Amino acid sequence: MKSLRFSASPFVFLVIFSLSSAIVLAHANEKFVHCFSSLHPQDSSSVIHTPNISSYSSVLDSTIRNFRFATPTTPKPLVILTPSTVSHIQSTIHCSKQHGLEIRTRSGGHDFEGSSFVSQFPFLLIDMVNLRSIDIDVENKVAWVQSGAILGELYYKLVEEANTLTFPAGLCPTVGIGGYMSGGGYGLLFRKYGLATDNVIDAQLVDAKGRLLDRKSMGEDVFWAIRGGGGGSFGIVVAWKIQLVPLPKIVTLYTVNRILEQNATQVVHQWQSIAHKLPIEFYSGITFAPIKIDGGKKTVVASFHASFLGTTDELLPIMQESFPELGLTREDCTEMSWLQSILYMGLLPNDTLNILLDRSHQNPLLSPSFKSKSDYVTEPMPESAFEGVWERLLEEEADAATISFIAYGGIMDQIPSTATPYPHRGGILYKIVYSVGWAAEDNARSQWYVNWTRRLYSYMAPFVSKSPRRAYINYRDVDIGMNDENGKTSYEEASVWGIKYFMGNFDKLAQVKTMIDPENFFRHEQSIPTLPPSNMEL
Ligand SMILES: Cc1cc2nc3c(=O)[nH]c(=O)nc-3n(C[C@H](O)[C@H](O)[C@H](O)COP(=O)(O)OP(=O)(O)OC[C@H]3O[C@@H](n4cnc5c(N)ncnc54)[C@H](O)[C@@H]3O)c2cc1C
Ligand SMILES: *[C@@H]1O[C@H](CO)[C@@H](O)[C@H](O)[C@H]1NC(C)=O
Ligand SMILES: *[C@@H]1O[C@H](CO)[C@@H](O)[C@H](O)[C@H]1NC(C)=O
Ligand SMILES: *[C@@H]1O[C@H](CO)[C@@H](O)[C@H](O)[C@H]1NC(C)=O
Ligand SMILES: *[C@@H]1O[C@H](CO)[C@@H](O)[C@H](O)[C@H]1NC(C)=O
Repeated sequence: MKSLRFSASPFVFLVIFSLSSAIVLAHANEKFVHCFSSLHPQDSSSVIHTPNISSYSSVLDSTIRNFRFATPTTPKPLVILTPSTVSHIQSTIHCSKQHGLEIRTRSGGHDFEGSSFVSQFPFLLIDMVNLRSIDIDVENKVAWVQSGAILGELYYKLVEEANTLTFPAGLCPTVGIGGYMSGGGYGLLFRKYGLATDNVIDAQLVDAKGRLLDRKSMGEDVFWAIRGGGGGSFGIVVAWKIQLVPLPKIVTLYTVNRILEQNATQVVHQWQSIAHKLPIEFYSGITFAPIKIDGGKKTVVASFHASFLGTTDELLPIMQESFPELGLTREDCTEMSWLQSILYMGLLPNDTLNILLDRSHQNPLLSPSFKSKSDYVTEPMPESAFEGVWERLLEEEADAATISFIAYGGIMDQIPSTATPYPHRGGILYKIVYSVGWAAEDNARSQWYVNWTRRLYSYMAPFVSKSPRRAYINYRDVDIGMNDENGKTSYEEASVWGIKYFMGNFDKLAQVKTMIDPENFFRHEQSIPTLPPSNMEL
């Protein structure tokens, strides 16, 4: 009897517990709605989306970019908010604190681990979609861009209003300004102008106290932290003031495909010590993928590609001099405008620029569900090491996998690694992105695919940066470490992943976090931890 009762009671407890927590949650949910509505009686119906109204799922689904986080068991927000004013954000913070709810903030929804719209705790989702104005000051070559804008909207507006200026940002037009800027942000111009955050000169931040701060009132340390320390740790960035750069007049792109049977391995091996030394006008990379050749045999194709700020006539002699092994010819090169090059590299239709404004289109480069990881390489990999990479790319799990190398160097070597929280500057030859994709219907086998990336990652360990093994915060990967579920992660525990993303800058990030958000209100799986009071030095 005793043992029976023993085994029954935890079950009974669980049922009672989950019933009562459901009731508490329903209350928190209603109390939040009540709190917010009393502060904004006119706007609440357009800003608040509760699960019982149809806009809830249309807003929620609108920017889920990775269907790994669109399953029936993925935790959903209690309430979604689409603020259209700063005061809506301030009231959301105020009311969620009062009722013990967490907040997740989403701009473009591209977070690799869904951290902008998934939480294991009862949470509210602030979707920045209605805060996406772009104000360009052509004369002073600056612009204010709200976080809810996507990169495509910024590019479009810049061409429309200032056909001589652009901004050094990323390739995929649907990426949100909010998350992209928060983690650094590289793109086609990064070897010439640095990361997107290197070109931010002011910002508007709503902090955990609900204050609206600009660069002056937040202070230089907080302003430093929000430009690369990762989204969702310091507050909600409403807008960024950016420095614009001259619009390149003409761009030449090339792609040269080599399969293993065409000595791809040798050429890849050589690329490693050449690409980072190319002039700053180059953005150069290699993408590897499995393909089927004659007779159904599988092999690996290495696609050498580059975007060059200049003409084919200028490009060819440089390549013949520095990388003759690639055998680049005039026929491999295509000249186009800068904006066309964005569409071309993103495999987007180029007949109209309107695609840049389309927030909802599914990027053709992106698998519906995916898992990605990143590495940085500081010494060329030995040629023999590539054999193990090809073997893994030929495995069954890797049918929709890619590995990309992106050359560093240029101005990245000159910007000090402490200038912003993003530390991967001098001495990097190239960055690697590993991605495996699958159809949403295949989500039940997610783990099978994810395991493939882990095996590959472990194989690569001897050939990439070590102590720490570096990673890019904007390619979030919870495999490298995660905060404790109770929200009480220590600095030491968080260092496991924090040092990989931020190296020596992690300490300052934790100090800034402790100063601006001592109660750790803004938190997620990889948010910056707070320090105990005695460790504060700022
Ligand atoms: C198809 C694709 C292409 C990509 N291309 C590039 C590229 O070329 N270069 C590059 O550097 N990266 C690239 N990335 C990575 C991308 O920069 C990150 O995923 C980035 O975080 C996305 O920003 P988001 O606003 O779309 O994401 P979200 O998922 O909305 O946000 C990401 C993180 O930032 C937080 N956050 C969002 N908005 C705010 C805000 N207003 N204030 C504070 N925190 C906020 C979120 O809570 C979350 O933690 C790409 C990703 C994808 C999926
Ligand atoms: C939906 O739920 C919210 C909060 O739970 C409640 O306040 C509201 O009246 C409900 N609306 C409808 C249309 O049922
Ligand atoms: C591959 O390399 C070998 C030896 O260097 C050379 O003989 C052969 O022509 C190369 N093949 C191709 C397709 O480049
Ligand atoms: C658009 O792409 C097509 C096919 O790649 C190409 O032939 C055409 O020249 C491109 N148009 C422009 C304006 O670049
Ligand atoms: C994934 O890897 C883990 C650890 O090696 C293993 O236990 C699990 O069975 C694997 N899952 C699948 C679906 O391959």
